[in-house]
Amino acid sequence: MALSEKTTLPPPQHIAIIMDGNGRWAKKRGLPRTAGHAAGAEAFRRIANYCRTLGVRYLTVYAFSTENWKRSQEEISGIMRLLRRYLEEALQDMEKNRVCFRFFGDLSKLSPELQKLCYDAQNRSRDYDVQVNFCLNYGGRNEIVQASRAFAADVAAGKYQPEDLTEELLSSYLYSKGVPDPELIIRPSGEMRTSNFLLWQSAYSEYVFMNVLWPDFSPSHLDEAIAEYHRRNRRFGGT
Ligand code: IPE
Ligand code: IPE
Ligand code: MG
Repeated sequence: MALSEKTTLPPPQHIAIIMDGNGRWAKKRGLPRTAGHAAGAEAFRRIANYCRTLGVRYLTVYAFSTENWKRSQEEISGIMRLLRRYLEEALQDMEKNRVCFRFFGDLSKLSPELQKLCYDAQNRSRDYDVQVNFCLNYGGRNEIVQASRAFAADVAAGKYQPEDLTEELLSSYLYSKGVPDPELIIRPSGEMRTSNFLLWQSAYSEYVFMNVLWPDFSPSHLDEAIAEYHRRNRRFGGT
């Protein structure tokens, strides 16, 4: 498929991205992994702005997984430092950029300083053009476990009976409450797995796997993924 492939069809309203390949991008250049994460943050800025131009309503990005704590302390602190810097800037530019934030994940494991930035960004968010759902210390299994616990607590408190649980009710306990499921999930970097991303919400998402490292991801790669999405025939179990 040619790059810069553009379509006149409307874009999906919700696109999710596994921002992968920062480490390999840095390694190819003989740079430390943190330099790859810094370049990845730039790619994220580009793509969030481009989503606004396209009229995409929700952009969900996987920034740090529940499994990423297995990495070296040096790499983890580098990532956390970049996140702090990014959120400080985003808070300042929120009105100008018209991008608002929500956070999916267990924020309690993050530093108090970073948690405060996340809550400030979430609380200051208005109904801007694009809503970015930032997945931080996020795991799809963890999300389902915390939702199950919260429902069980409501049953114990007498609010519900176990048989009241439906797909809709369980969805309302997830981090993604109120956000429609993503129509399109993109994974750059050449890996073809979900790595614990949006396990519940991806039931009928279209996956597009791409052979580009996240720091090199450009608006034309997004056009290419959207064009591929439009070529798919979504049946949802029908014919
Ligand atoms: C994604 O890039 C960023 C995070 C997981 C935090 P990686 O750091 O996983 O990059 P690769 O996969 O090693 O190239
Ligand atoms: C998934 O990428 C997590 C993020 C992009 C934040 P990983 O690099 O952690 O996934 P694996 O280890 O290749 O499955
Ligand atoms: Mg990776």
